[in-house]
Order: sequence, then structure tokens, then C-alpha cells
Amino acid sequence: STSPVGTTRTLPEGSIDQVKLAVVSCSNYPAGYFNVYREIATRQDLDALVHLGDYIYEYSSEADSYAAADAEALGRTFPEANNLELITLQDYRQRYGIYRKDDDLQELHRVMPFIVVWDDHEVTNDTWREGAENHNPELGEGDFGERRIAALRAFFGWMPIRPVIEGSNETIYRSFRFGDLVDLHMLDTRIIGRDQQLDYMNYLGEGGLDVDAFRAAVGDPNRTLLGAEQRLWLQSALAQGTATWQVLGQQVLMGRMNLPAELLMAIATQNLENLPASLAELATLKARALQGDPTLTEQELARLELAAPYNLDAWDGYQYEREVVLATARQLDRNLVVLAGDTHNAWANNLRDIEGRQIGVEFATASVTSPGLEGYLGLPAEMIPQAEQGIALLVDDLESLNISQRGYMLVTFTPTEARSEWHFLDTVKSRSYESLSQATISLRTLPGSEGRRLEQSAG
Ligand SMILES: [Fe+2]
Repeated sequence: STSPVGTTRTLPEGSIDQVKLAVVSCSNYPAGYFNVYREIATRQDLDALVHLGDYIYEYSSEADSYAAADAEALGRTFPEANNLELITLQDYRQRYGIYRKDDDLQELHRVMPFIVVWDDHEVTNDTWREGAENHNPELGEGDFGERRIAALRAFFGWMPIRPVIEGSNETIYRSFRFGDLVDLHMLDTRIIGRDQQLDYMNYLGEGGLDVDAFRAAVGDPNRTLLGAEQRLWLQSALAQGTATWQVLGQQVLMGRMNLPAELLMAIATQNLENLPASLAELATLKARALQGDPTLTEQELARLELAAPYNLDAWDGYQYEREVVLATARQLDRNLVVLAGDTHNAWANNLRDIEGRQIGVEFATASVTSPGLEGYLGLPAEMIPQAEQGIALLVDDLESLNISQRGYMLVTFTPTEARSEWHFLDTVKSRSYESLSQATISLRTLPGSEGRRLEQSAG
């Protein structure tokens, strides 16, 4: 038989004017059509596609499974033999096969090279080195180590990646050099070294959150997301990387995202009725605080200052190691751009160290199909713009966000700027869709110590 003709590109060498990457994550088959993939496949201007993981999800497509309520109506259920939570090598292999029957994904693989890493769902939800939120031996899911080996073996079997270490399916951190312009360091923040996620529930007592104990745990110098070996490798890769832009392609948000504790509590307890109102109220307080309003009461200030990380599964839960990475970039005087996925929403963060020094920027992509915060926060569509404004105001290092639309990032590097455009689609619930030009966010950063911050871009 004859297969369709595919095209790819090799890495450029020498002096390069431009590198253009599409960046995606979180492509959940039962949640919707891969319209984002279809849209990217029409572009002729890309050097590569970077997939930051959650290329597959481990759940079944039963209506009560994660993001699968529409699967039946969309014709995106799994065949019976694979309609289960993935555990064995056979399960994982079959699931990749089902995804690869999707026309849009096939076409995208046909026309351009993928640079891939896994996130958690290539194994199971909220994976860390030795376990996962969604791994339950008492439910007959067996040994986590065996599941992990099966999942990673299937990943290497199906994905366009060669072993980084001959004979190993465990190591995926590696660098790509685009001439003198971009060194792209792909990381594994998920499986090879990550310590278990912290849980606020373990720091809740009768008097509320034990702030001191929590701060000590979250800042513990022994806590690791990368593992010592990968961290040393990254430090030496950044030291040896001589390209204008040092780019980290990785899974979870690096930006600091502290929210007022009362919002966190409302979200954690899914007590969402008053969320829009308290978000608006806190945003007003914050605006007054930023203007130096002297009439703010101590109580009002305390409502703002009692803040904590929203997501302990991200770098926010591994704060010491984040400082190590930022300090390395600072000491080496590198132009740092971090790419992230995992959250299903679009974010742009200024990366500042614990002293408040501006180090670099983070561009984080929306999902291909997985649902975002709009559902999780129970926000009706008309309240979303206001919620986005409120969150952007409350989170100091957050420059821009989109919490309700699916899409991808187009990241363009030149010798004088690194720019990200966030592209969104109106729907993944039907085959026909429109791209939303009015929703596009465009931000850039410049090289050099004075330029390493987010600014609006006309592009
Ligand atoms: Fe995801």
C-alpha cells in the first residue's frame, strides 16, 4: 500500500532570522473535535509544532468521565475494548491508535514535525514520581511503577521521539538548537523527578490554614519538580546555550499565581455562587491599594494580603526550585522564555524572583479541547471578561489571560524580539468553527536585561 506523502523540516544551522513555533497542549478526544490541529495544519510558516503534553487522556469516554459529557453526541466515544481507564501497555497502545485515527491529528503529523513531551495524562491525572491522584491500587489498578512503565513505553512507541538515552523510555529532557537564535530545552516536570504535590487539606486546622507550616513545606529546599539530575542538566544546558533566546518547553505554569485566600476557599469548596461578586469586590480593593488609597482599612488590606498559590501542582508548589532556575538564568544573563501548557487556559506571566527582580517571561497555551476554568468556576459567559480582568488585577505577575476559549500559541523568535500570539476558536463542539480574531492576545519581550518583560505587541 502507499501512504500519503508527509513533509518535515530539519533544524537550521548558523545565523537565523526567525523561528516560528506553534505550541499546543491538552488534546482530549471525547471533549471535542481537534479543530485547533486542523487550523494549525493549514499554516505554511511554521518551523515545528511543540506539544507540551496531555496528547492523550487516560479516562474512559463514558458520559460521567472527565470532559466526556458530549462524547456520544460528537461521535467521539472509544470502542468498547478501550473504553476504560488505561492501566496496561495494551490499553495505552490502543488509545494512541484511536487518537491517531482522527483526521485532523493525522493531517497535522503529515505536514510538520512535532517536538513532544508528556504531561500527566499520558500516565494518569496529577502524576508525580511514585504515584498519582488518579492511581488507586485499592481499586485494582495495581502497582504504580508498572503502570508508569507501560504508559511511557507506549508513548515512545507511538510518538515521534527517539530515545534520549538508548534503551530508556524514562528520559525525555533534551535540547533543540535552532542555529544561533533559539535553544529550546524540553523538560520533564512531571514524572522523572517530581515530589508529591502538597495538599492544603494537610495544613488546615481549627484556626484555618497553618500558614507557617505551609510556607515551610512549599519553600523546602529539598522539594523538587525536576529531580537533581535534570536540574543539573538544565543548569549546564543554560550555561552552554549561546543562542539569543533560551526557551524552556515544559508542562506546568512557572508564574507566581497567588490568589486571596477567601477566593481559594470558595473554589476549593466549590462554593461558587458568590464567586463573581467577591472577585469583583477584591479587584476593586486591589485597584484602590495600587492607587495608594489611604482610606483602605486594615481589614480590607488583610483580605488582599492573605493570599496563597492557586495551583500546588504547578511550579508554585515547588518554590525553591523555581528560584534556582530563575537564579541560573539571571546569573548567566540569559534571555529566558518559558512555554507552558497543562492548565487548559491561556496565560502570560512576568517571571520575577523572590526579590522581585524581573528575570524573564512565560507564555502559556490554552488547550486543544480540554475544558478550562469557565466550567470549573461555574462562570456564565457574560461574566468571563470581568472575571479575567479581576484575576489579572489580583495576580501581580500575570499580564494577560483567557479562561474560556480553546486554541494555540504562535511563538515567533527573531534577533530583536520573542512574540506570542494566542489564537482562539469559537468552538470545538462542531466540525465547523471560526477563528476568533478579536480574542487574539499578542505580547512580546525583548532581549537584554532591560527588555526581559512582557509588553503589548502590535503584531
Ligand atoms: Fe490537560
